[in-house]
Amino acid sequence: MSKNLHIKTFGCQMNERDSEIIEQLLAQEGYVATMEPERADVILINTCSIREKAEQKVFSLLGALRTEKQKKPQMLLGVTGCVAQQEGMQISERMPHVDLIVGTQQIYRLPEMLDRLQQGVTSREIATDMEASFTIPPFQKLLTASSAIPVAAAQGCKRFVTIMQGCDNFCSYCVVPNTRGREISRPMTDILEEVEILAAQGVREITLLGQNVNSYGTTNPVAAQQVNFPQLLREVAAIKGVRRLRFTTSHPKDLTEELMRCFAEIDNLCPHFHLPVQSGSNAVLRRMNRKYTVETYLDKVERLRRYRPDIALATDIIVGFPGETDDDFQATMDLLNQVRFHGSFSFKYSDRPHTRSTEFDDKVPEEVKSIRLTTFQERQDTICFKRNCEYIGKEVEIMIEAKNATGIKGRTSSNHIVHCPDAPAPLLPGDLVMARIVHAGNHSLKGKIENQHE
Ligand code: SAH
Ligand code: SF4
Ligand code: F3S
Repeated sequence: MSKNLHIKTFGCQMNERDSEIIEQLLAQEGYVATMEPERADVILINTCSIREKAEQKVFSLLGALRTEKQKKPQMLLGVTGCVAQQEGMQISERMPHVDLIVGTQQIYRLPEMLDRLQQGVTSREIATDMEASFTIPPFQKLLTASSAIPVAAAQGCKRFVTIMQGCDNFCSYCVVPNTRGREISRPMTDILEEVEILAAQGVREITLLGQNVNSYGTTNPVAAQQVNFPQLLREVAAIKGVRRLRFTTSHPKDLTEELMRCFAEIDNLCPHFHLPVQSGSNAVLRRMNRKYTVETYLDKVERLRRYRPDIALATDIIVGFPGETDDDFQATMDLLNQVRFHGSFSFKYSDRPHTRSTEFDDKVPEEVKSIRLTTFQERQDTICFKRNCEYIGKEVEIMIEAKNATGIKGRTSSNHIVHCPDAPAPLLPGDLVMARIVHAGNHSLKGKIENQHE
């Protein structure tokens, strides 16, 4: 008899992909994914610990699930992901109702762990060793083969493909090198095989994932294959059926001329680039251990725009990093006004366990962080609106992502969401159509579909 599995995912796209992998691995064991936690035999919370708030959410959800577990003791409750990796001991001590705790490198063990719990062989399972699962051949093979197994969460037309694990950059504020371990690239042959399987299923948009994708192939045995990120991009882009190719995230220090050139030369590489800058102050960047300056960042932005004038740039910003002065913050605002990003994610700095910045003096008061965040976001909203207005009157290709009673939602290759209220009926998710932009808002565009070009 099949068992129902419910996964709740927090955090980044890498975690979303990990949840899919878990779903795929467990589908082979007869588990069926369900959106309804009350119907589940197994609930897994795939967690994120990037900021304090993210972690608090996990602990309050786990607290709330205590009564569920009391009502239904045979239901198994597990924690996976970065909080499990980092706070495994704390969860184990504080949350006796949690049955399994699985670190970021151990998800491939889930089937056997669940088996033991269900058979009553053990009453609790904890696996948080850091063992670089990408280098374990059975897991590598499983990962590639698993792409053929449909996932409930998939949007069908677009999928993520993980190309590397971990991070070696040790930005002073960041938990990722601790929660995900050392940087390891996945063999290119496996990546290409996975994309081929997906494309054959009709997937049209591929996003290559990693914390630092542009250093792909430089930090582990994959380097022996003599392949770097631009080469990988070219190979993936050439796979039949891949209509749109994206990647995330990149580190500015590893952005090479060769990668910039890809934006001019690879037709199906989308003109959208997420390039986190974090701060506009060199003093802050130095303390963050980012290893670039504002000047080199701006120079790279300029060169990128020369290769691909229509490229839409997005970024991440942290406000209120320890020691950030009014002048430092003003420098971030100046950078924002100069680059005029198409979009950004901005966060208030928070201390994270085992990071260097936790020890830094001059912590910025919460109220100051809040004011700076609002100032930044208001300015970014205005810039987004003006940037969006630049598309009015233009004809753009959109890929349909969803359809409902009020029309369709599509996305441009520059990653802008376009709502088309009066779309023709036969359109389906995954279809590529041309739309004329007729209206712009802060966060999306409105379009009119003129002709269906395939
Ligand atoms: N690998 C990517 C993204 C990492 S996490 C990169 O290098 O940029 C996503 C974002 O969370 C980061 O870009 C950063 O802006 C933010 N972030 C990370 N640690 C944080 C912390 N301690 N406080 C606030 N924001 C943080
Ligand atoms: Fe964290 Fe820096 Fe690595 Fe990004 S590059 S994951 S911010 S340590
Ligand atoms: Fe969060 Fe871990 Fe991703 S900390 S951002 S889920 S790598």
